[in-house]
Amino acid sequence: MVEDHTVQERVATDRQPSLANTGVERHRTAMARSALSAPMQALARHGFLDGDLSVFDYGCGRGDDMAVLSSAGIQVSGWDPHYAPGTKLEEADVINLGFVLNVIEEPSERIEAIQAAFSLARRLMAVAVMLVGKADTSTLRPFRDGFVTAHNTFQKYFSQHEARALVSEAAGHEAIPVGPGIFFVFRDKISEQRFLEGRRRRHRDISHLLAIAPPRTAGTKADEQALVAEHREVIDAVWKTAIELGRLPDLEELDDSVRQELIERLGSVRKTAQLAQHIYSVEALHQARQQRTDDLTVYFALNRFSRRQRYRELPVEMQRDIKAFFGSHGAAEKTGHDLLFSLSDPNIISTAAQSAERQGLGWLDGAHSLQLDAGLIERLPPPLRAYVGCAEQLYGHIGDAHVVKIHLQSNKLTLLHYEQYTESPLPRLRERIKINLRNQVIDFFDYGDDVPWQLLFMKSRYMAPDQPGYVKQTKFDAQLEALRDLDFRKFGPSVAELAQYLQASKLTIEGFKIAGLFKSPFSVWSRRVGGGVS
Ligand SMILES: C[S@@+](CC[C@H](N)C(=O)[O-])C[C@H]1O[C@@H](n2cnc3c(N)ncnc32)[C@H](O)[C@@H]1O
Repeated sequence: MVEDHTVQERVATDRQPSLANTGVERHRTAMARSALSAPMQALARHGFLDGDLSVFDYGCGRGDDMAVLSSAGIQVSGWDPHYAPGTKLEEADVINLGFVLNVIEEPSERIEAIQAAFSLARRLMAVAVMLVGKADTSTLRPFRDGFVTAHNTFQKYFSQHEARALVSEAAGHEAIPVGPGIFFVFRDKISEQRFLEGRRRRHRDISHLLAIAPPRTAGTKADEQALVAEHREVIDAVWKTAIELGRLPDLEELDDSVRQELIERLGSVRKTAQLAQHIYSVEALHQARQQRTDDLTVYFALNRFSRRQRYRELPVEMQRDIKAFFGSHGAAEKTGHDLLFSLSDPNIISTAAQSAERQGLGWLDGAHSLQLDAGLIERLPPPLRAYVGCAEQLYGHIGDAHVVKIHLQSNKLTLLHYEQYTESPLPRLRERIKINLRNQVIDFFDYGDDVPWQLLFMKSRYMAPDQPGYVKQTKFDAQLEALRDLDFRKFGPSVAELAQYLQASKLTIEGFKIAGLFKSPFSVWSRRVGGGVS
């Protein structure tokens, strides 16, 4: 085994990493990219590439990510031992260590790379690695804890759990999974809590809450009515903020102009909120408060997995939320703890799933699972949100899945990714990911090559009526269901079976319509009688 450690060309910095030389040509792993890499996309999704923060790409390869960021006006630079060895290693708000660890064949050097990269991070570092199960290794030559490829490069495939432990330990700060093989490590703890809390915050459309009318108040005092008319804009602004926050805002949470007029003309936030009740319903504030309390309860439940945060380490807006919704930090933590520990009771999960289905959130497959559009997760009752959050502790954010299956008895969560999920009435299953919470294992299954395609039938079952595309999907599903001799229980017909059936019945699927159904007056009549198509 070659263990010839050579000293590489030094750059004007005392933090230059050491590079082992085992004959492996690491730089050949760097590919030309036509789109942002996955960790950069994750940073962008979470608002860390909005132009205010500087970025340093540690192990930048050919520099394609940097070119995209730079063209978007982001202050970015990067270093790579092969492609950019002369760049100065410098601090930045955001550090990216993307797909570097998996090309390093020497384990101690992976640790050095994490530490060197993290030492440059002012706010956070994103790390991405290749995951086991995502690539075919059958033709590769095993080497150390990975493989050597035909191009003489090394690839280590990590488990999610292993990568998280390695990064956390080497950085000395918790690595938070944000996707498969992608982690964020925060140096700035306030940003970390803001990020974690933001992930549990329901993205609410508050317009319907603002539209709830107040009960008629007989005998409203004339002077109050005059005040409402005169200061309507300020009252609207305060109420809207209150509905967004689920509580009355602090003066500092209001825009300068609103705050000034409020202080000078209306006295206090409380007084303004009272006046607002001539126009708006207090019930809306109660609903908003409940939703925010749920968000924070789920956040505190999932925070049990991390180091305990001191109250003063929390962002100031969260401190206000805690006081308003729970009374004290201790009470908030206790509520989260109780929620987390309640999840071991299958009855709690089943009851929450039944309640979700009653609210139109997903489709209950007997006592087995609740399946729903991933966009509805944040509307689920707190026990199910916490359950999904537990899976996210292992997997990372499940945001890019289309459908989620919550197994009610077996501590599993399945994520389903489809092709043309929104555009097609019958999306094809591309990838299924099974997260087993009991044994902490993630399995990936691809469809379409060796495994036949599976179609998603009755997509509207998994959607909520207010989601875009629901109505046309429901109409399509009704047409499909009316077709005789097709069985949509379990997985439904295969692609070949469906194609054969449509051909034999002289039908075609055109967009969200099944065409040919009404071509002959007799078939209209007979199908209407037989299948109930309307
Ligand atoms: C798979 S490429 C990834 C490049 C880029 N981050 C991307 O995502 O496109 C791996 C890169 O890591 C670099 N590399 C190898 N050893 C390194 C080390 N110890 N520290 C930093 N980068 C290293 C290689 O030169 C190569 O360009």
